Amino acid sequence: MAPENSTENPPENGGTSQGLTLPEQVALHVELLRLAGVRFLPGDPARLSTMAAPPVNRPSPGGPPQRPLEASAPATGRLADMARSQQPAAPPIDPPPPIVQPKPPVRPVPAARPAPATPPPVFTPPKGGGLFTLEQVGAPLDSLPVLDSATRLEMLEQLRGEVAACKRCAPLVSERTQTVFGVGPLDAELCVVGEAPGANEDKLGEPFVGEAGQLLNKMLGACGFERSQVFICNILRCRPPGNRQPLPDEALACNPFLVRTLELVRPKFLCLMGATPTRYLLDQSTGVGVLRKRDLAWRGIPVQATYHPAYLLRYPDKKRDAWEDLLRMLDRMGRTPPKAP
Ligand code: URA
Repeated sequence: MAPENSTENPPENGGTSQGLTLPEQVALHVELLRLAGVRFLPGDPARLSTMAAPPVNRPSPGGPPQRPLEASAPATGRLADMARSQQPAAPPIDPPPPIVQPKPPVRPVPAARPAPATPPPVFTPPKGGGLFTLEQVGAPLDSLPVLDSATRLEMLEQLRGEVAACKRCAPLVSERTQTVFGVGPLDAELCVVGEAPGANEDKLGEPFVGEAGQLLNKMLGACGFERSQVFICNILRCRPPGNRQPLPDEALACNPFLVRTLELVRPKFLCLMGATPTRYLLDQSTGVGVLRKRDLAWRGIPVQATYHPAYLLRYPDKKRDAWEDLLRMLDRMGRTPPKAP
């Protein structure tokens, strides 16, 4: 009889009836387990692991070939014989608990990167880089309602009064003798646009009456025009102090007067004298040296750019180019220059 405090299980097969001592029974169980393929791992006798396939004898890098973890030499002797005879009755072995591989730490999924924002539109400055892009956008003059000449003359006089009363540019207002509106007929074949009145113009109230005006008259004559046939005006209606160039703000302030003048006069062709009118009427920052070779237009009116008469007085060798420009203009107008006497 087993003692009451014995922890061993009674042998299923009546072990004691086979006459085995307790150590022998233990050894028998171990052998049975070994035959069933259960191996005791070295260093951890409490841990069992089934190894269906023999371990691979991988050479350790740089070291001698490793021995199999367990040498499974066939058991011999009485216990082995008994074990083999009892093998079918070997106690079922619960499959060892699966070795739970430690899960790799769950990496936080990085927040989806916001889609790159659409790059801001690149600002493209208007061609020419001038100041009056919007102000100059408008219907071609010949698409405007046709007003009779009397009405237009009346409106032109009204506009002249507005200009005379203008106080938009304080520095100019304080220095001017009078405003210089412009002169010439309605429906002029040609309209000349200059820069601003000078000292003579400020005194007389008429554009191009000084030395530059004398040269302009000659140029017009060479083209076959009487001065009185041509409408003549400027970007500014006031003389800039010291005959300096018009400032952009001044040109901007005065621009509506020029536009309304041209809408009422309705010239057939425009001749722009120098860089100031090409910059402020055509919205072109390109120099006259380039623009003079182009077929330009303003609101449907063909335009020829050329050098300012005052510039030609300073650089007389440019007169040849200026004459080329006038011939070009006449050609576009369908006119021929009068024969020299
Ligand atoms: N220069 C101009 O541009 N305009 C004038 O009226 C006189 C000189």
